[in-house]
Amino acid sequence: MSRPQAPRGTFDVLPEQAARRAVVEETATRILGDAGYGRIETPTFEATDLFARGVGEATDIVQKEMYSFDDGALTLRPEGTAPICRAYVEHGMHKLAQPVRLWYLGSYYRHEAPQAGRHRQFWQVGAEAIGSADPALDAEVVLLLADLLDALAVGGLRLRISSLGSPEARAAYRERLTAYLRDHESELSPEVVSRIDHNPLRAFDSAHEGTRRVMAGAPRLLDALDAEDADHFAEVRAILDAAGLPYEIDPTLVRGLDYYTRTVFEFTSEALGAQSGVGGGGRYDRLVELIGGPATPGVGWAAGVERILLAGGETPVSEPVVDLYVAPIDPARRAEAVVLATEARRAGLGAQVEAAGRSTKGVAKHADRIGARFLAVLGEEGDAAGRATLRDMEAGEQREVGRDEVIPCALRGELPA
Ligand code: HAM
Repeated sequence: MSRPQAPRGTFDVLPEQAARRAVVEETATRILGDAGYGRIETPTFEATDLFARGVGEATDIVQKEMYSFDDGALTLRPEGTAPICRAYVEHGMHKLAQPVRLWYLGSYYRHEAPQAGRHRQFWQVGAEAIGSADPALDAEVVLLLADLLDALAVGGLRLRISSLGSPEARAAYRERLTAYLRDHESELSPEVVSRIDHNPLRAFDSAHEGTRRVMAGAPRLLDALDAEDADHFAEVRAILDAAGLPYEIDPTLVRGLDYYTRTVFEFTSEALGAQSGVGGGGRYDRLVELIGGPATPGVGWAAGVERILLAGGETPVSEPVVDLYVAPIDPARRAEAVVLATEARRAGLGAQVEAAGRSTKGVAKHADRIGARFLAVLGEEGDAAGRATLRDMEAGEQREVGRDEVIPCALRGELPA
């Protein structure tokens, strides 16, 4: 019979990894909490329609990557922004003082080809600020992500930003670009020509010599922004400059979700391979309205927890402290051992009970290996009921003590005189 395994593209989080992930969570709780972001949790699955409308019918995510099931037309969430906007509308958060600042950490699901840093179930930490179009908020979220990645020692970072303007300006630009590409069709690669109508922007990514020459003179979306959108982008950049955060303007920055308007940004890390995106986001001023709420601007980001850890420095992880290891050598004293350890924990000590049937010698070795400060052996030969042999592992000395003396000694950190 074949042994069951975790499905392709998924992974188990073992205790030693859980400790590093907890550091990400604690750091996010501190940095985002200090900035006034409240934690939100939404369900793991949502109506399929929320993502079709919110993320966009034409995106790879909706077309190819969603785990959807027929029962009630539900989908395992591929991302967190549309669900949070859904919650914002559902709970009438527009009636609260604006903007509403929220953060989240949870698992997301995309049917992608698994590779290093790309999974089918992965975790994101994210932040969304909903209810204000102030460019200071765009800068705020970018700076918070920069601080989070810095605190987690994510190396080799590069920040790229751009502005997509309004959907109307974008549609007009697309038409101009399509016409420009048609005018230069004979100089372009056949592949680019075949995609002119479907996705003209992809021509900017081509490595084909002739195409590159043509694209160097192509109209750019950033030059085609409305005056208001251009001002907004200038203001965001000015604030990032004032904060001293380095970035590159990348007019070809594209994100895989359709809801973006105005600012978009992405952090990549050299420490990662092909999947170099650590975190990204942008403004989504039409999204809340698109899913049935009042017209409400918003901006935010999400970062992949696994990619943060892959690209992150070694975060010191503390081992559990064992102040007291209790070993009932005589099985008749098991109950006493469990009660003693329970009482020790209630007194604030880290206490564990031996449960592998080790000998007196084996128990001492194990207590040493796990760094126990004291070892209490119950039921060693000649040991009277209600008494224990208490060993100070640091000093390498031991005394026979009354059972009631064990916890006070461990609390004091010394054997009785
Ligand atoms: P996204 O760029 O699709 O944006 O995902 C954000 C981050 O999630 C990526 O930068 C990457 O680190 C991680 N990620 C994505 N897919 C995978 C995968 N298959 N395996 C491992 N990690 C992955 C969003 O999801 C938007 N909701 C971000 C946003 C928030 N925009 C505005 N607010």
